[in-house]
Amino acid sequence: MTADDDKRAAAHAAAEDVADGMLVGLGTGSTAAFLIARLGERVRSGLKIRAVATSQRSADLAREVGIKVLDFADVAAVDLVIDGADEIDDRLYAIKGAGGAMLREKIVAASAARMIVIADGSKRVDRIGAAKLPVEVLPFAYRFVRRMLGNLGAEVVLRGGAELPYRTDQGNLVLDCHFGAIADPQALDAALSAIPGGLGHGLFLREVGSAIIAEHGQVTRVDRPV
Ligand code: 5RP
Repeated sequence: MTADDDKRAAAHAAAEDVADGMLVGLGTGSTAAFLIARLGERVRSGLKIRAVATSQRSADLAREVGIKVLDFADVAAVDLVIDGADEIDDRLYAIKGAGGAMLREKIVAASAARMIVIADGSKRVDRIGAAKLPVEVLPFAYRFVRRMLGNLGAEVVLRGGAELPYRTDQGNLVLDCHFGAIADPQALDAALSAIPGGLGHGLFLREVGSAIIAEHGQVTRVDRPV
């Protein structure tokens, strides 16, 4: 049983939550790609859904498998978003953004009635914080935001390096931050969100309603208590 088998198992389990008539948010990354492939199969078997994508990559994949993809600019609310994560803990706090799509992912998640994270067992942690926490930055504000993140105690690395920096789908930069153990996630969320020129970050504290995690072929589901 490989990590890919577990990603696929989690994705297939989450795809069962998708029903006729839904407007579905499609996440980004290798686990989300298994979801998109599975939804494509279900669409070809008659499932009627429309989707919005959290990245150009996922939009392209979805169209390739026959899913109707809308422009999110025309959408005010999504029924269900299903996305991967880099780390998730039992509080359903997640770190996202290794794929660089965290700004769109957070916007689509905020618009969604429900969010499910899908992951293989390597993403499940006792407490989030070991993964790099990415911040999308307006290029104009790069130096300033970098200094502010350093002031918050982060080790900060420009994704892709200075020679050829990584650019998001919006053309912005990504600063990958390492904070170590995150003692007060809410305080960090508020501090990151308050930096002018920082456009979005990969800390997801409120959005995730359920996590479907597959480990060694066994699928488990954690739901946020209502
Ligand atoms: C992209 C993300 C991904 O969902 C996250 O990085 C997990 O990716 P993968 O499923 O490939 O491990 O947040 O911005």
